[in-house]
Amino acid sequence: MPEPRLRRYLLCPPEHFAVDHGHNPWMRPGDPVDVPRALEQWRALVDAYEAHGHRVDLITAQPGLPDMVFAANSACSHAGAVLGSRFHHEARRPESRQYELWFKAAGFDVLEPQAVCEGEGDLVPMAGPGLLLAGTGFRTAPEAHAEAAAHLGLEPLTLRLVDPRFYHLDTALFALDDANVAYCPEAFDAAGRAELAARFPDAVRATREDALAFGLNSVSDGRHVFIAPQAARLAAELAGRGYVPVPVDLDELHKAGGGIKCCTQEIRG
Ligand code: ARG
Repeated sequence: MPEPRLRRYLLCPPEHFAVDHGHNPWMRPGDPVDVPRALEQWRALVDAYEAHGHRVDLITAQPGLPDMVFAANSACSHAGAVLGSRFHHEARRPESRQYELWFKAAGFDVLEPQAVCEGEGDLVPMAGPGLLLAGTGFRTAPEAHAEAAAHLGLEPLTLRLVDPRFYHLDTALFALDDANVAYCPEAFDAAGRAELAARFPDAVRATREDALAFGLNSVSDGRHVFIAPQAARLAAELAGRGYVPVPVDLDELHKAGGGIKCCTQEIRG
């Protein structure tokens, strides 16, 4: 039976959520969003984390930053070290400062990356093998990988994403625990697929349909997997492996190309 570990998560309420640009293929600029519904769905995610014993910290949403709800993109931490962010899209750049201020007030030093780096959107620390899985292709620059890994005390493993629907690593892969992952091979180039197959022989391999249903934009505490209910096939497979799927529906946020993991920054103290 996989063992859970209590986590600390940072989230931002979607108070100013909107789809006002086309930063990824999920977004149709000007698509109306239902903010009260987004808030209700997001609240259910916070409740689910707390019901499983996790600590949730909140950052104040800022007007004019409609994507600030996607907390994962603004930093990446490991063993108390925090790397901030530098966004690819101009419109998202001011988010970095908001999160940097939050981390500083919470007692962390924050290193500002030199190259484009979208935090946990593209970076997945794996404490077990001492690896930093690092995505590139659409957002985070490959030059950011070595800098990020050095700051976090991990070895970088660059993984190239090839499908614009899966523009961030966290739409195509998530950590089940400190040493294993679930991922969709088709989202990666041949070299990335070979690396993942060699390093994670016991990985859960998801289908493109699972990934399109935001099933890989999940958060695992090592046992409970907070997962989109639309990804029913993947949830069933995880259950067969001894994990406990906890369905949380964020379909209002899916309109911006984000799901559970995008809304969740894990703080690894
Ligand atoms: N609209 C946002 C963007 O395109 C969504 C970010 C989703 N976050 C994530 N971790 N994948 O930048």
